[in-house]
Amino acid sequence: MRSFKNIGIIGAGSMGIGIAQIASTADCSVLLFDQNKAASIQAIKKLEKVLLRLIEKGKIKPSKKDSILSNIKIVENLDSMKDADLIIEAIVENSNIKKEIFSNIESIVGDDCVLATNTSSISITSLASCLKNPNRFIGIHFFNPAPIMPLVEIIPALQTTNNLVREIHQLLITWNKKPVVAKDTPGFIVNRIARPFYSEALRIYEEQIADFATIDFAMKQIGGFKMGPFELMDFIGNDVNYAVTESVFKAFYYDPRYKPSFTQKQYSDAGWHGRKSNKGYYDYVDNIAPNSPSKDEKLLVEIFERIIAMLINEAVDALYLGIANEEDIELAMTKGVNYPKGLINWGREKSFSWVVDKIDSLYEIYHEDRYRCSPLLRKKVTK
Ligand code: NAI
Repeated sequence: MRSFKNIGIIGAGSMGIGIAQIASTADCSVLLFDQNKAASIQAIKKLEKVLLRLIEKGKIKPSKKDSILSNIKIVENLDSMKDADLIIEAIVENSNIKKEIFSNIESIVGDDCVLATNTSSISITSLASCLKNPNRFIGIHFFNPAPIMPLVEIIPALQTTNNLVREIHQLLITWNKKPVVAKDTPGFIVNRIARPFYSEALRIYEEQIADFATIDFAMKQIGGFKMGPFELMDFIGNDVNYAVTESVFKAFYYDPRYKPSFTQKQYSDAGWHGRKSNKGYYDYVDNIAPNSPSKDEKLLVEIFERIIAMLINEAVDALYLGIANEEDIELAMTKGVNYPKGLINWGREKSFSWVVDKIDSLYEIYHEDRYRCSPLLRKKVTK
C-alpha cells in the first residue's frame, strides 16, 4: 500500500485549514497554498487558537500543538508542491477555476501524485476530464468543521482507478475518519438524502400547517434530532443551503423531488442568512425568544411523520440507484449530519409498509411527482 506523507492543500479557507489540521495531526507534512497569502497566515493564526483551546480542554499536549503547527508550511506558489503524494483542492466552488488549477498542478507534480477535490456540488467526472491522466483523480469530501465531523465521502470519477478508492479509504482511516464511498451523482450521499429535511419542512410552513418553531420542535421532540430544520438552515446559512438545493435541483434535470422553496430564496435574497447575519428564520439579536411551539400532539406527529417518511424514501431510493451501499448510507447520515438513527433502519423500525402508505397518501393529496415512492421501498414491502 502506498504511503501518503507529503500532502498539498490548495485553498486556506475554512475547509482547507481544517483538512491541513487533520493531515498534520496524523504526522503528514502539509504544504498550504492560497492565492491570497494573507488568507493562509490568517488560517494558521486561527488554527493556533483552536489548538490552544484543545490544550485547555486537555485533549492534546502542548508538544502536539507544536508538531501540528510545524508540520504545516505556507507556500507561495504551486511549484513548491512538486514532490507531493496527494493534493487536496479546497478553493472556491467554481468549476472553471478548479479545472484551471488542476491542469496547472498536473504539469508540476510527479506521475504518481493523487489529485483530489473537496467540492460539494461539482461533478468529479467533469473535473477529472481536464487532466491528461484522469485515473489519478478522486473526490474527497469532508464535512464542516472538518477536524470535528468524522464522515468523509470518497467519490471516484468514472475515470478513477479502482485501487485509488481503497488507498484513500485506508488513508482516511489512519486520519481517524469514517470514510464512505459514493457514486458521482448530485449531492453525493449526504447532500442528496438530507434534502427533504429542509424542503419538506419549508413546504409544511408554506402550506400554513405550522410555524418554524413548531416544525423544529416536532423534529426534536418526536424525532430526536439535535436541531430542527429551520435552526439547522439558520446555522448552515440560508444562502449556502439555498445554493446547494438549487444546484442539486438543476443537476437532477429539475426533478420536482428536489425543487427549492420560494421561502428560502426570499430569506436568502433579503440577506436573512441565519446566525451569521443575526437574522434568519429566528432572530439572533437581543436574544429575542422565538414563538412558543404548538404542543398539539397530533400536529407534531403529523409533521414528524411526513418529513421522516420523505427522508426514508430518499435513503432507500439512493440504495436502489446504487449511490452507496446500505452500511455507508446509514453511516453518512449519522456521522455526517448527526441524525439520531440510520434512515433505512428507521424505515425498518416503523415498517416499510408504513412508509409506502405515508408517501402514497401524500401522492394521493398532491398528485405531484415529488411524492413518488421508491420502487425499492415497494419491493421491500412485498418481500
Ligand atoms: P472559503 O471561501 O472559506 O475558502 C476558499 C479559499 O480558496 C479562499 O481563502 C480563497 O482565497 C482561496 N482561493 C480561491 N481561488 C483560489 C485559487 N485559484 N488558487 C488558490 N486559492 C484560491 O471556502 P470553503 O468553505 O473552505 O470551501 C472550499 C471548498 O470546499 C469548496 O469547493 C466548497 O464547496 C467545499 N466544501 C465546503 C464546505 C463548507 O461547509 N464550507 C463543506 C464541504 C466542502
